[in-house]
Amino acid sequence: MWHRTDTHRYPVLYVDDERNNLTVFRLVFSDEFAVRTAQSGEEALEILASEPIAVLLADQRMPGMTGITLAEKVKEAHPEVVRMIVTAFVDTRAALDAINRGEVYRFISKPWREDELRAVLRTAIDLFALGSMVGDLQLKMLRSERLASLGFATAGVSHDMKTPLGTVTLGVDRLARKLGKLEEAQGASPLTSDMHKVLADCKAAAKQLKSLIETIRVHAREQPAPTERLRPAELAESTLRLCRAEILSRAQLSFERDEAPPIVGDPVQLGQVLLNLLVNAAQSIPPGEPGRHRVRLRVGGSEGRALLQITDTGRGITPEVLPKIFDPFFTTRTDEGGTGLGLAMVREIVDRHGGTIEVQSTLDRGTTVSVFLPAAPQDA
Ligand SMILES: Nc1ncnc2c1ncn2[C@@H]1O[C@H](COP(=O)(O)OP(=O)(O)O)[C@@H](O)[C@H]1O
Ligand SMILES: [Mg+2]
Repeated sequence: MWHRTDTHRYPVLYVDDERNNLTVFRLVFSDEFAVRTAQSGEEALEILASEPIAVLLADQRMPGMTGITLAEKVKEAHPEVVRMIVTAFVDTRAALDAINRGEVYRFISKPWREDELRAVLRTAIDLFALGSMVGDLQLKMLRSERLASLGFATAGVSHDMKTPLGTVTLGVDRLARKLGKLEEAQGASPLTSDMHKVLADCKAAAKQLKSLIETIRVHAREQPAPTERLRPAELAESTLRLCRAEILSRAQLSFERDEAPPIVGDPVQLGQVLLNLLVNAAQSIPPGEPGRHRVRLRVGGSEGRALLQITDTGRGITPEVLPKIFDPFFTTRTDEGGTGLGLAMVREIVDRHGGTIEVQSTLDRGTTVSVFLPAAPQDA
């Protein structure tokens, strides 16, 4: 169900060099909206940097920074803000241009009419609210990815625990047998019966540990077998929707789709694979120069298999680090909250789907990760 948005929770920032216009705007709209005002682009940017703003409404003709320039800057620094321009001069070309480039959501001609602008502001706030809802969902998904990947990592770690635990169990058994022989030869004593007790305790503990590990393994690995027939391009599109904003904050994004065969798989798990690889690509790019960097997602086919390929122009991976990146808990991003579980999970899921992964990387140039997945059988 769709509830009317509580407009007061979403501040509107109006920017105009004429003080009178600001006063009128405040008088007219403060009843319904949380109004903030600024007299220049610079002042507006300061406000945006220090408080949450949902909607920006900027006069186009201002000394110094124009409305469109301001909108461009806001798009970079605060892409979630819905940006609109007010102008007395119907500068159609610049208007259309800015809308097409995605810098502004719409133009409003000056002098504005109260009822018209009120309706526009409400729609803009709805748009903003919708955007933050998607953002919340994305966060929730990333969080559940963490949990899911923790499961995968535990599966890997618990597998590694089985061998040493086997050695312990065998050792305890052998010691108990040797102790029995010793008692046969020399007779039992308080010391040997104490040793029997210790060994029995060890054996019980090892057994408990074994069943604990089994529980974790079953829990972590028992996922329904992938059965759904999927189109790789659709998978890519729906995943891009989730992380587009994060990528665009670091780089330009391109999406190339060639012929790709359909695959069989679990859309949620394969979505996690793509999401992790795309987020890794974005995170490999230093912030601050999105114009100079690129993340490319390519969907295609290769020798009868589907190919999902992610290329970034980020910092790359050194040859020493490369063999470790799929290990659970391996991360070079400890400071930025890296868990080192993303690629461990990626590998686990791709394995389960019968696929393979290749990574090519050049230090300071960038990285390409290619995921190959088997094509769906013809009759599936
Ligand atoms: N696209 C990439 N560019 C550079 N390094 C990468 C890239 N993807 C992964 N890595 C390296 O692999 C490590 C492990 O990645 P991952 O398992 O996703 O964990 P996390 O992202 O939490 O560090 C990262 O810390 C990073 O060093
Ligand atoms: Mg990662």
